[in-house]
Amino acid sequence: SGALEGSSAKRGLWSSRLAFILAATGSAVGLGNIWKFPYITGENGGGAFVLMYLLCIAVVGIPIMMAEVMIGRRGGHNPVKSLQMIAERDRLKPAWKLVGAIGILAGFLILSFYSVIGGWAVSYVGTAASGQLTGQSADAIGAIFSGLLSEPLTLLLWHSVFMALVMVVVAKGVHSGLERAVTLLMPALFVLLLIMVGYAMTSGGFAKGAAFLFEPDFSKLTTTGLLVALGHAFFTLSLGMAVMIAYGSYLPKGISIAKTSITVSIIDTGVALLAGLAIFPVVFANGLEPGAGPGLIFQTLPLAFGQMPFGSFFGTLFFVLLIFAAWTSGISLLEPIVEWLEERKGMNRTISTLIAGIVCWALGIASILSLNLWSDVTPLGFIPMLEGKTIFDLLDFFTANILLPLGGLAVAVFAGWVMSRQAMEKELALSAPAFKLWYVTVRFVTPIAVATVFIYNLL
Ligand code: PHE
Ligand code: NA
Repeated sequence: SGALEGSSAKRGLWSSRLAFILAATGSAVGLGNIWKFPYITGENGGGAFVLMYLLCIAVVGIPIMMAEVMIGRRGGHNPVKSLQMIAERDRLKPAWKLVGAIGILAGFLILSFYSVIGGWAVSYVGTAASGQLTGQSADAIGAIFSGLLSEPLTLLLWHSVFMALVMVVVAKGVHSGLERAVTLLMPALFVLLLIMVGYAMTSGGFAKGAAFLFEPDFSKLTTTGLLVALGHAFFTLSLGMAVMIAYGSYLPKGISIAKTSITVSIIDTGVALLAGLAIFPVVFANGLEPGAGPGLIFQTLPLAFGQMPFGSFFGTLFFVLLIFAAWTSGISLLEPIVEWLEERKGMNRTISTLIAGIVCWALGIASILSLNLWSDVTPLGFIPMLEGKTIFDLLDFFTANILLPLGGLAVAVFAGWVMSRQAMEKELALSAPAFKLWYVTVRFVTPIAVATVFIYNLL
């Protein structure tokens, strides 16, 4: 293992634990927290779903994040090479290419629609800044949003802007400036969410909103809801596509993987819960529909900005910060495929980024059309669970709820059954009982949880 230990030194390590946390947080905190968490919570009935989601973060998400970071640091290379180098049994080595393949495919598919939603945020910067939201009724705010969705070319423009932002950073291959920006802008987003929660407290719907989020009503929990909660734990923590394996390869030895993973997970969960507390009171105070779907935050938060003091200012700032959070996540989605093109196809970084970015951008057009011209096109509608799902919905569902859990399952099996226990004890440097708890989790709990939820949904 001497070679393994020496290898990461050549690649330049994160300067500190903080630098790793910034990069990992940049990837984790994004549209998943502020756009997706509230809308899937609304669709799945609130409290019981939130409880399942929190359980999935604790029991599946954090252990898998620890496993990914550990594999990355131990291997010291790109995800596939790291997995292959530290796999104990040679015969299985080709199988670990699958993890890399899942990562590349998932990143590519997710970014195609993620960028479309990022584009909505770009569009709303102008909407908020121009004062159009001030004093508007819920109906007028709803009309602004449906107006945006009905214009494919406008959506395409903003999708293009967002994708270009992501491509520029990936093409340059330097994220250090961005990571430094995370130290400033993530806390700013956090504070702004707190201000919005403060406003939500005065909206008259706070008790109802908080009860919706935190009072579990298990009669509302479906098996699909369970699958969505599990899938979202992976999506929101950027797990199951080897992003954390890649980042872990830069983490200096001697830094606690457990503490670091828990910190990132707590920040990510905190942002999601704050977003929920800012949104649902507005939903209930205005008689809106919690299950409104992917447009939820764009139909509710603008209403709050239209009513609160300095609303245009806060609204503009909010959408700028949301773009920034989505941007740092988008970069980590495009990175795996660009690296793969570079290493396997021998292309330079600019060309790799151009090819991957443009193909992904083109695929995004299918998601754009799902919102208007193709809104009735539901290719897999004959499957009961996928009834009424547009191409956009299907991409979201398939990546978050199938691909990422499968990738996470592979990581759990790798850590639980393939990698040497001694090596893991050394990397994680936990107390004996804590290590046992983690080990049992990745060995049994995570695989059984993922398999059970999958099987339940197939039946
Ligand atoms: N975690 C990001 C979010 O919540 C999305 C993401 C998923 C990023 C997978 C990278 C990998 O917005
Ligand atoms: Na997230």
